[in-house]
Amino acid sequence: MNSNIQIKLNRLRNKATQSDILFFLTNQENAIDQELYNFAGKIREKYTGNRIHLRGLIEFSNYCSRSCHYCGLHRFNKNLQRYRMSPEEIIATSIQAARSGYRTVVLQSGEDPYFSIQDYVKIIRAIKREVDIKITLAIGEKSFDSYRLLKASGADRYLLKHETSDPDLYRRLNPGMSLEYRLSSLRELKRLGFQVGSGIMLGLPGQSLASIADDLLLFKSLDLDMIGCGPYIPHDHTPLAGQPSGDLTLVQRVLALNRILIPDANIPLTTAQTVLDTAADAIYRQDFFKSANVLMPRLPPIEYQEKYNIYPNKKRYDGNTANYFNGLAKQLKSYGYTVASDYGDRGISA
Ligand code: 5AD
Repeated sequence: MNSNIQIKLNRLRNKATQSDILFFLTNQENAIDQELYNFAGKIREKYTGNRIHLRGLIEFSNYCSRSCHYCGLHRFNKNLQRYRMSPEEIIATSIQAARSGYRTVVLQSGEDPYFSIQDYVKIIRAIKREVDIKITLAIGEKSFDSYRLLKASGADRYLLKHETSDPDLYRRLNPGMSLEYRLSSLRELKRLGFQVGSGIMLGLPGQSLASIADDLLLFKSLDLDMIGCGPYIPHDHTPLAGQPSGDLTLVQRVLALNRILIPDANIPLTTAQTVLDTAADAIYRQDFFKSANVLMPRLPPIEYQEKYNIYPNKKRYDGNTANYFNGLAKQLKSYGYTVASDYGDRGISA
């Protein structure tokens, strides 16, 4: 163990600066990476033990009114067959998830104006009436008033990634959108009492390591409850087609840095990461779980999963929800992890 590096790691915990973070993002020595991962691993151990939270992901609509340059769901992608689950299907899938062992469902979609706030309110209330489960919304930007109504109807968490906080890059990649509104949404969602998740993509064309360091400091200043960072993956039917993918070492470093900066945050291993990882058991790779404590398996039906094509080769899961949940739990157990049975709110989960 190098005491100089330990001093730097301790500084990250106390008062991290951009250059402290950049040191670990630019480092060329494998031994320093290992110290970083192990340091994060000890923190994860202390806060979440060997528990992993599974969140059932319901991708309920791939319609999107936005035209983000990286995303395969962007509105001008005419190659994509669009679908929308009905409120009844969303409710039934959520109930099935709860009965299969999930303590959280994540309702995710493109920014689809078809669903009104009242539709969401009805869906959330119907799920909560039937089963004991936390609901995370990942439905994009809404008005402050809508956030309030969604919270009042019983939604627990809100996931709204800002993707990059580099203002120039944000402007170029997200036409017609405002970084200011995105960030003020995150603050408002926190204020309303949601557990709030955000995150970025890593390796976006034109993204600097300095901007990534700033993103990490921003996560901390927003006091996020969940931080999801995965690699950028190019999609043929987007303006960024042909650009290289994000690098998995960068992803692993960022997960570890997030764990150190916000020790009790929920940190998922993103699906995007498992797409790039060629290891057979990619999603269970122990080194990533040194920092991460959350997995978000996609729930059936599979015909929708195929169309929720944000980036290519997204992993699909088929079959019975309960069997799949149990299979995952068994597999994780063989790696020394247990699937947590509590809701998995942010904080120490005993
Ligand atoms: N590669 C990797 N991740 C992507 N996302 C969107 N497009 C891509 C891409 N091409 C991520 C964004 C978004 C989440 C649902 O998927 O971070 O928030």
